[in-house]
This record gives sequence, structure tokens and C-alpha cells, in this order.
Amino acid sequence: MSSHDHQAPHGFSTIALHWGMAALFVAAFILGQIMEELPRGAEKLSVLGWHLLAGGAVFILALPRLMRRRKIKSVHNEGAAWERGAATVVHVALYALMILLPLSGFLAGASLPTAIPIPGGFELSPLFSSPMLHEAMEEAHEFLVVALVWGVGLHIAGTLWHKFVKRDGVAGRMSPFARHRQSG
Ligand code: HEM
Ligand code: HEM
Repeated sequence: MSSHDHQAPHGFSTIALHWGMAALFVAAFILGQIMEELPRGAEKLSVLGWHLLAGGAVFILALPRLMRRRKIKSVHNEGAAWERGAATVVHVALYALMILLPLSGFLAGASLPTAIPIPGGFELSPLFSSPMLHEAMEEAHEFLVVALVWGVGLHIAGTLWHKFVKRDGVAGRMSPFARHRQSG
């Protein structure tokens, strides 16, 4: 493999999924923070509906994202052992969060005594209304939010490491503006 191939940016669908997913995570995070500030009531429930939509989309996109994973060139196979190890730990955590965050959120929402209005005229019924389940899932959700903040922080630190210290072209592989990309 030539060094040009090695640095070639990922394909269109990989990049679109990466940044689409990142935008949805940020949207769900901001909506979650707004929701926390609101008193109980209709307004909070309506923000929760949008929060559910953004978080639910993360969950739905996790499958194509994981399927793409097998096809992409990854830092998991490059660099010193500690670099490969660090990248693997952070990436596995980020993939796990794509599933666990929406799942814990869904269970926290579905255990509320009230239905959640979902934009578009739908609603999530109180499927298993239980204060105990709600509290446990809310705690788990909050713990996973903290893990997300750390995971994304380390992920961005890793990108900066590649951009400014290693200067090996890895940081640019996820750039939507690059030419001569890999297929897929
Ligand atoms: C400013 C924000 C971000 C930057 C600069 C960034 C940068 C990158 C870069 C450069 C890669 C390519 C690594 C390679 O080619 O091996 C990558 C991959 C990846 N990113 Fe991000 N990213 C950001 C946000 C996010 C967010 C919010 C998530 C999800 C929570 C995320 C999840 C991933 C995952 C799972 C991979 C694939 C790793 C693999 O399987 O090899 N990224 N990111
Ligand atoms: C990527 C996915 C998600 C992210 C990043 C996320 C993020 C957050 C954040 C930041 C909070 C505020 C709590 C805190 O600061 O610790 C929160 C609360 C909450 N989220 Fe999510 N969430 C996601 C998915 C979901 C989904 C799919 C649901 C389904 C209904 C959901 C339901 C809830 C509920 C019920 C709360 C608690 C609200 C309260 O009682 O104040 N979340 N989430």
C-alpha cells in the first residue's frame, strides 16, 4: 500500500455518517441540558420529545455505522502499541455509547408515568411506568452522558495528536472537504 493510499480520506458515506452522528449527539446533548433546567410540565415534555428524536436517530444509525466499521481503514492498526490501544478503547466506548445512551434514555422515558409527545404527531406511551426503573435508568443515562463527554474529549485530543504531533494525515481522513477519497 502506498503512503498516498494510507492517508486517503474515508469515503463519502463513512464521512456523512460520522458527522451526521456527531451532530445528532451534540443536538441530543444540548436538548438534554435544556431539559434539565426546565420545571416539570408540558414544555419539558415537548423538549424531551425532540431529545428522544435526536437520540433515537443515533440508535438507528448505529447499525449502518457499525457495518461500515469493517470496511474502513482505522487507526486501530496503525502506530505504537499504546496508540493502537488508546484508539481502540476510546472508539469501542464511542460505539457502545451509540447504543447504551439511547437505550437507557428510552427506558428512562418509557418508565415515566406520562406519555412523551414525539414531534410528528406520535407519542411514547408509559410502557413500564415505574419510579424505581425510572430512577435507575436516569442515573445510568447521566453516568453515560459523563462517559460521552470524556470519550469525545479524548477522541478530539487524539485527532489533535495526529494533526499536530504525528502529522500523519489521519486527522484529515474524516474531512468532508478532501479529494481523492476511498470508496464507500
Ligand atoms: C470535533 C469532533 C470530532 C473530530 C475532530 C473527529 C475526528 C475523527 C477522525 C479524524 C476520525 C478518523 C480516524 C481514522 O481514520 O482512523 C474519526 C473516527 C471516528 N469518530 Fe470522530 N470526530 C469527532 C467527533 C466524533 C463524535 C461526536 C463521535 C461519536 C460520539 C465520533 C466517533 C467516531 C468513531 C466511532 C470513529 C471511527 C473509529 C474507527 O472505528 O476506526 N467522532 N473521528
Ligand atoms: C445520543 C443519545 C442521547 C444523549 C447524548 C442524551 C443526553 C442527555 C443529557 C445531557 C441529559 C441531561 C442529564 C444530564 O445532564 O446528565 C439527558 C436526560 C434525559 N434523557 Fe437523554 N440522551 C440521549 C438519548 C435519549 C433518548 C433516546 C431518550 C428517550 C426518551 C432520552 C431520555 C432522557 C430522559 C428521560 C432524561 C431525563 C430528563 C429529566 O428527568 O430531567 N435520552 N439526556
